Amino acid sequence: FIPKMQCRQLLRCISRSPATSSSSCFGVARRQIHQPGGFDTSFGFEEVEPGQKQDRVNQVFNRVSNSYDVMNDLMSAGLHRCWKRRFVASANPRPGWRVVDVAGGTGDIALGLLEWSRKLPGRAPPPVRVAPGDGSVDSFREAAERQTAAAEAEAPAGCTVSVVDPSPSMMQVGSAKASAKGSTFASSIQWLEGRAESLPLDEASSDLYTIAFGMRNCTDLPGVLREAHRVLKPYGRFACLEFCSVENPLLSILYDEYSFRVIPPMGLLVAGDWDSYEYLVESIRRFPHQTLFANMMREAGFSAVNYEVLWPGVCCIHSGYKLPSVK
Ligand SMILES: C[S@@+](CC[C@H](N)C(=O)[O-])C[C@H]1O[C@@H](n2cnc3c(N)ncnc32)[C@H](O)[C@@H]1O
Repeated sequence: FIPKMQCRQLLRCISRSPATSSSSCFGVARRQIHQPGGFDTSFGFEEVEPGQKQDRVNQVFNRVSNSYDVMNDLMSAGLHRCWKRRFVASANPRPGWRVVDVAGGTGDIALGLLEWSRKLPGRAPPPVRVAPGDGSVDSFREAAERQTAAAEAEAPAGCTVSVVDPSPSMMQVGSAKASAKGSTFASSIQWLEGRAESLPLDEASSDLYTIAFGMRNCTDLPGVLREAHRVLKPYGRFACLEFCSVENPLLSILYDEYSFRVIPPMGLLVAGDWDSYEYLVESIRRFPHQTLFANMMREAGFSAVNYEVLWPGVCCIHSGYKLPSVK
């Protein structure tokens, strides 16, 4: 079922050439525009009243939560999994760390961080050895299940993660994924409703702060960075995975064509939702250039600020450390 209006959008998009038009097939100019100072009162390419952006963003994620994971796989041809794996590896969470994963959504990063911190060398879970019962298939199965549960209970504790996100629907999907992975996963993640601008966490309470594909949804970027700095312990690490400005001119053209022509129609066909996926591609264009974002991190107080562009050049990992304040 495709609503009539969205059907028209689909036809308009297919029949027009955005490359020859000053506006895209969505009727808005495609350029990088971001308010100086990082206070973003835009919703994609649309200007909205301050305070309205968060409500609109929440509507998007509450709407797409059930198709979010499958759409990520389709839109990126599975690449988002590689980017997230690289992100988790570079964050390198250690057992015992308290991690806050902001904009954690459906939990990919939280689960990845837990897995990583448990699989550090020398911390593999004990092997399962099945003792035969009365020799029947059922008795083997029961014994195997008992021993898997025992091995899981004995599994070395990794880090613990607090996911903070304003969308209960996204977190419900995440929480179900964590439960499906086993009780020790589920019990190591705390799901907190909240916003990056005002985290429900104490000062200097986290060893690691992560945020993946969430920063561009926030309204007050300098405020988010100051808040990240507040909740980190001295020497704590900040890590942000986000789409970036594409530097390669050829890739940039192909990426624009793909983003504006393919993603919203794909959103409509798979998730029955054009507008949310149009917001997604527009919000990427509104995010500050990577060098500008690095400067914003320095202004918020982070040290050793760096970024790494991931293949093929459409997203990057920003990182920095909170150093202890010198009295
Ligand atoms: C694109 S999803 C990313 C989810 C997950 N981190 C991932 O990589 O798959 C963006 C998430 O940001 C959340 N979000 C929106 N506004 C936010 C805010 N102000 N603070 C924190 N999270 C926010 C949304 O609810 C959504 O779950």
